[in-house]
Amino acid sequence: MNTSTIVILDFGSQYTQLIARRIRELNVFSVVLPCTAPLAEISAHHPKGIVLSGGPSSVYDADAPPADPAVLALGVPVLGICYGLHYIVHHLGGKVRPSDKREYGHAEVSVLDGGVRLFAGLPETLQVWMSHGDEALELPPGFRRTAETSNALAGIADEERRIWAVQFHPEVHHSKQGTALLRNFVFDICGASPDWTPELFIQETVERVRAQVGNGHAICGLSGGVDSSVAAVLVHRAIGDRLTCVFVNNGVLRKDEFAKVQKNMRDNLGLKVVAVDASERFLSRLAGVTDPEQKRKIIGNEFISVFDDEAAKIFAAEKTAGEHVAWLVQGTLYPDVIESSSVKGPSQTIKSHHNVGGLPADMKLKLIEPLRDLFKDEVRRIGRDLQMPEDILERQPFPGPGLAVRILGEVTADRVALLQEADEIVVAEIKAAGLYRKIWQSFAVLLPVKSVGVMGDQRTYAYTCAIRAVHSEDGMTADWVPLPYEVLRTISSRIVSEVRGINRVVYDITSKPPGTIEWE
Ligand code: XMP
Repeated sequence: MNTSTIVILDFGSQYTQLIARRIRELNVFSVVLPCTAPLAEISAHHPKGIVLSGGPSSVYDADAPPADPAVLALGVPVLGICYGLHYIVHHLGGKVRPSDKREYGHAEVSVLDGGVRLFAGLPETLQVWMSHGDEALELPPGFRRTAETSNALAGIADEERRIWAVQFHPEVHHSKQGTALLRNFVFDICGASPDWTPELFIQETVERVRAQVGNGHAICGLSGGVDSSVAAVLVHRAIGDRLTCVFVNNGVLRKDEFAKVQKNMRDNLGLKVVAVDASERFLSRLAGVTDPEQKRKIIGNEFISVFDDEAAKIFAAEKTAGEHVAWLVQGTLYPDVIESSSVKGPSQTIKSHHNVGGLPADMKLKLIEPLRDLFKDEVRRIGRDLQMPEDILERQPFPGPGLAVRILGEVTADRVALLQEADEIVVAEIKAAGLYRKIWQSFAVLLPVKSVGVMGDQRTYAYTCAIRAVHSEDGMTADWVPLPYEVLRTISSRIVSEVRGINRVVYDITSKPPGTIEWE
């Protein structure tokens, strides 16, 4: 791709992906590489600029994440952030030490002497997000202080060498002028062009897939969610009905979802869809199982097996017609790609998340992953440009194992039906309150806890339902949402009066960490 690229070297900060996203929001392509990436790999991207991310280590630690200091001499503009600043100071002859006064959270930064190009057009006082325990004690030759807090150094630069660094995190939303600062770096300093647009991405992806697949055929497992749908539509644009989509009812979908998704995919998007109702098969495998991981495994394995069967049928039919299915489309996103190549190595899997089935071994399908370079919000932008319906694009994330991880204890058809009703009320009321698009996920959880209630003159003894609503950027961390009392009141009274079998509603006020988003 012939676009301007900013390379971000990841030293293990939880915010590295945010740097990439903020830069891409400026329509400039950015790519995250582990800090250990060889110089040749970095240069191969022909970067217009390089950002050194933050990180949890100290530069003077024996096991500090290594990067080739030659990146500082490539002649390409460099922006160091937090650990990136320490890295620059340490490797160019300055000194970094543990700070007496650690700074975490909001801070006020004063820009010194009219500042430098990085701060051009910004106010003299910046509201920023700090998170560091080390500080630069001595600057390397040629560098000067460009900003400070009341406690410590906040920015340095050697404009001749084209190296800038800040102690705070411009990529975090709490840094009010963060985007303006990144804009200065990317456009004014690096001279990048805002050429990373949805139209360009669609055009190039369609051409690439068309060239890749040639006359071949492809299959795609649909989940009803944003990623697999956008991936399917993109590939469909490239190869038309030589793409067959498979949509499986695993018995733990939401109310009427099996029918709705089929309608959307066939009628609205024109995809060729094979729909398989395997709900009984899944539910019978889940009978008696209460362990969350076991549930995930069963659903994951069963999905692969159903998908394999269907793929084999499509495979056989195409073969009879003299064709050959050689490709499998997957909606893998960029965060998964970064995760598996990051400096920390694949992060510890806390839950086994099965999104897509494995490859049928004997079919030797090759992968098409058209969204590998994209973040979720970019996938939505692409979908919008492809004129896909908003109800697909704005759908909140829904886990592969579906309602099974929201029914604590055994999953039965009756419990699924109860939760489907409760879930539908939650979604409807959140939408009615105009909150659906503002919230990362909002849903109901069915607890295997019965309690006593009273309805009319009758005593009830029925299940409890928990409501969960969280804000999140990527699902890795999340804050519970203080839903308006009115919304909670309506959800609660509707569930208790409309869903026979639930007589108590509670609200989950746990953030992640320490809680997870799903209850299982
Ligand atoms: P947790 O519960 O781990 O969830 O905080 C983080 C995000 O991942 C989703 N999730 C899953 N997605 N298969 C999936 O495809 C799974 O097994 C699974 N478990 C959790 C969850 O909905 C949230 O968005």
